[in-house]
Amino acid sequence: MKLFDSFFLKHLELRNRLVMPPMCTYQAQACDGKVTPFHQAHYLAPAIGGVGLVIVEATAVAPEGRISDYDLGLWCDGQISGLRSLVEGVHATGAKIAIQLGHAGRKCEATNGVSSILGPSPLAYDDSYRIPEEMDEKTINRVIDEFKQAARRAEEAGFDAIEIHAAHGYLINQFISPATNKRSDQYKEPSLFLSQVLQAVHATWPVEKPLWVRVSATDYSPDGYDVTYCSKVLAAIKPMIDAVHVSSGGVVPIVPPVYPGYQIAFARTIGEAVDLPVIAVGMLSSPDLAEYALQSGFADLVAVGRGLLRNPNWLLEIACQHQKDFLLQQPMYLQRGFPLH
Ligand SMILES: Cc1cc2nc3c(=O)[nH]c(=O)nc-3n(C[C@H](O)[C@H](O)[C@H](O)COP(=O)(O)O)c2cc1C
Repeated sequence: MKLFDSFFLKHLELRNRLVMPPMCTYQAQACDGKVTPFHQAHYLAPAIGGVGLVIVEATAVAPEGRISDYDLGLWCDGQISGLRSLVEGVHATGAKIAIQLGHAGRKCEATNGVSSILGPSPLAYDDSYRIPEEMDEKTINRVIDEFKQAARRAEEAGFDAIEIHAAHGYLINQFISPATNKRSDQYKEPSLFLSQVLQAVHATWPVEKPLWVRVSATDYSPDGYDVTYCSKVLAAIKPMIDAVHVSSGGVVPIVPPVYPGYQIAFARTIGEAVDLPVIAVGMLSSPDLAEYALQSGFADLVAVGRGLLRNPNWLLEIACQHQKDFLLQQPMYLQRGFPLH
């Protein structure tokens, strides 16, 4: 199965094509953005279960960049050591580990130490959210620097790659979408803020380590954007990224139809348009479908989220059926009861 093929990106070598996508756990229990024993268990389980790459949940670059009070953060040096121990644990299993750096913008629901929230334009997500403060140039530059400092800390923690969260209607996505960006200054240009964030991150992130973005291919909004528009945004920043992780939605409160593999066509369109490796995600937990996405060229890597939450040994169970060599080559799996027969 192609799922078990290794994958190379710059100096990053993955033992297979399975990615655990970023998923908030809301377990930074003291509202301090720090790793807790829960995070250790949560990320080590799929790593021991054989995934090639674990992507740590949306990690805020500033306190007001959190989605909730219980998000992980990387806005101060005191948050590095917990993440370093997470990196060391995951590396000990043979998996690699990336971190998703993000800023919630107008979708910030954190209240602890957060007096106001930010956005490109003063439009609330819906009636239950606060109206964001329209970011002036000084604030924009501050947030760009916050991404840069968080990337420096990610390097100090030993991460193998960074994923910049430009999807699901969070701050960067708010600048990308015409449904949320109503500015008349230079930041009306949908790729400008993202491009400046990437430039700042590159100033501190080692050149041999991959850096990519997660995007929403479309926001499903009549006032918003489609996959062609998204591909153009990505083309503008292509020299600064090594791959694209393709999701969709979350910019406005519209729930799209979802079904197995519902985002893989977006992954293929974007991969072909920008000619970069792509990660596909979204209801791919049927092994046949995940394999189909890889073999048919929809994507280079597949991410399985809830499937791995339910069963961190998802890959090992597939290996029992289709790829016993994967298990036999690594004593760690034999010691954990795989293969089954
Ligand atoms: C509990 C939960 C938390 C999530 N948190 C994040 C996140 O932090 N960042 C992100 O980009 N996507 C997040 N997502 C979306 C997932 O990364 C993934 O795209 C989504 O679950 C679809 O994949 P699946 O069908 O394999 O679960 C989250 C999803 C779930 C279920």
